[in-house]
Amino acid sequence: MGDRENAENPAAGVPGRVLITAGPTHEPIDAVRYIGNRSSGRMGVALARAAAERGWVVTLLLGPVGVVPSLGLGVRVERFTTCEDLRRLLRAEMPSTDLLIMAAAVADFTPAVESGGGKLRRSDGPVTLALRPTPDLLAEAAAGRRGGQTLVGFALEARADLLQRAEEKLCRKGVDYVVANPLETMDAETVEAVVIGADGRRVPTPGAMSKERFAAWLLEVVTGAGGGASPPRGAVTPA
Ligand code: CTP
Repeated sequence: MGDRENAENPAAGVPGRVLITAGPTHEPIDAVRYIGNRSSGRMGVALARAAAERGWVVTLLLGPVGVVPSLGLGVRVERFTTCEDLRRLLRAEMPSTDLLIMAAAVADFTPAVESGGGKLRRSDGPVTLALRPTPDLLAEAAAGRRGGQTLVGFALEARADLLQRAEEKLCRKGVDYVVANPLETMDAETVEAVVIGADGRRVPTPGAMSKERFAAWLLEVVTGAGGGASPPRGAVTPA
């Protein structure tokens, strides 16, 4: 089956083109320092591998992670450093994408003033950093979506109000699914999450899963290929 044919009906579980973002963004403070989230990118890499194994045409947008993993054949990798880099890549890649999985840990704030390229010196005395919020890339992608696209975001929040906050993100960003991940499991080897659909359905992982098993499970849930979720909103409401 050719790529075009593959791409026609991802919602029915037929592979198409998937765009996955992974890793942190680094927002430069000066020539050597940055603000960023702690993120290894492993979740996104596991998703890219699982999707490629299942016949998806995979593009992985990968942030500044220490060791670049080997991904095998069939995964195109584009690198980004800052939120603005990732924004440009998303704008270029979104039109040809059937499924976006936004696993990147985008920094929520960036220095309000661009660094001049030099290095802040301790001898200059105390420093106050002014920060501004970064644009919400997932919300932008959702606002510009075409019919047939499915968008999936992640929410890492404290267990106490995890589902409530994840649901709020689902609505605010206008996506089809949000993977609600308890903050307490950060850096853990296993994932125990709940996928929240725009139709209000909640699909919990069947227990704790390795990131590799979770990646395969999530793909099934968001494409309706056996995970029990309803067809994604993007697939049933063509623009
Ligand atoms: N995200 C994004 N652009 C940003 C920040 C986050 O696209 N500037 C994406 C993340 O990749 C993730 C989802 O939005 O898929 C949720 O990220 P999170 O940081 O939890 O949400 P925020 O939008 O930053 O909301 P809040 O500040 O309330 O946590």
